[in-house]
Amino acid sequence: MHNNPRFSNRVSQIAKSAIHEMTRLSKQVDDVAFLSWAKPTVDTPEHIKEGAVNAIKEGLVGGYSENAGLLSLREEIVKKLKRDNNIDANPSQIILTVGAIEGLSAAVMALVDPGDEVILPTPTYSTHIRQVVIASGKPILIPLIEEEGFKWDIEAVKKAVMPKTKAIIYCSPSNPTGTVYSEWELRQLAEIALEHNLVIITDEAYEYFVFDDHRHFSVASIPEMRKNVISTYTFTKTYAMTGWRLGYLLADEEFIPQITKAHIPFAICAPVVSQYAALAALQGSQDCVAEYRQHYLKMRNLMCKRLDDLSSVFDYVKPGGSYLMFPKILLPEGKDSTAFCVKLLLKGKVSTTPGIAFGPTGQSHLRLSFCVSEDQVNLAFDRMEKFLTK
Ligand SMILES: Cc1ncc(COP(=O)(O)O)c(C=O)c1O
Repeated sequence: MHNNPRFSNRVSQIAKSAIHEMTRLSKQVDDVAFLSWAKPTVDTPEHIKEGAVNAIKEGLVGGYSENAGLLSLREEIVKKLKRDNNIDANPSQIILTVGAIEGLSAAVMALVDPGDEVILPTPTYSTHIRQVVIASGKPILIPLIEEEGFKWDIEAVKKAVMPKTKAIIYCSPSNPTGTVYSEWELRQLAEIALEHNLVIITDEAYEYFVFDDHRHFSVASIPEMRKNVISTYTFTKTYAMTGWRLGYLLADEEFIPQITKAHIPFAICAPVVSQYAALAALQGSQDCVAEYRQHYLKMRNLMCKRLDDLSSVFDYVKPGGSYLMFPKILLPEGKDSTAFCVKLLLKGKVSTTPGIAFGPTGQSHLRLSFCVSEDQVNLAFDRMEKFLTK
């Protein structure tokens, strides 16, 4: 990569986001069927918007909140963590952040010195890898075992731990594979973390979108782990609040002042209007979350059925959660996932995301998103059938 001396090496070495590149390219093509967007396509529920509107009318949103966020919201989050994550927390262990993303960035910044190593699975959400690189850390990518449903290779993780290893970062349910790592796997990671005094940073963005007999497990629910875990969550996916930019992190009190030192120069505080919307989200009916989960499950089943009809083109692991899946392309031209995606877009009018965007073992894969309508899934697959099997 060519480095312009005006810019930091840290940022120059980061490749352009393949996800955003595909989105840009997709906009140049008419009438595209989209399976590439990993964001809810429905609007934020009315009662949540009303929470924000009321706070605006009452003059509550013009100033900063506490750096950690509104106490009333952190108190609601404590109740949610107890109810849904089996975690005993208190408000002083929570920081509201600008999406989960800013919480993850602040956590990485608080832990990683230049040259420190951070273990991540591959494929994984590439933003995590970039966050480590921006902190001048070294990402150590451990291939997941695809043949066993994208499972963690625990022995490989053990071997990868070095004196400079600081942390392990993962998302479960996973973007891009839709894998829900089992409680057993996560307890194994927790043991490794305790043995070597590493910090596990979790990204639980898709915690509510879990299907069949899979269960979402939060490592912070293991009491002995509390000094070795920073957990991040978001309102983005759960309540279709992508644009409100609100998430939060949970960490032991020992971490909070350090993470706050990174949080302040990034954000000062999370958007206050969004904090009031989030308060309405947590205090109101949770029916919308159940509805989204039902819809995603239906779309997952439809997408798997349509992929079964394309078994000469794709092999896949059925996702246990999130609204994403990661089929392997069996055709020889699928070896370069970017070229395959571009061709599928320009000639087949279907927008997907190249697997290579998610780590080296993502090559020969596509990421498909099923947080779309039934018509969109069917349109995309009708086109893929026509284009890929002719
Ligand atoms: C795994 C994962 N984490 C975090 C995010 C972004 O979350 P937020 O909008 O809360 O920053 C995404 C968005 O796609 C994601 O897939």
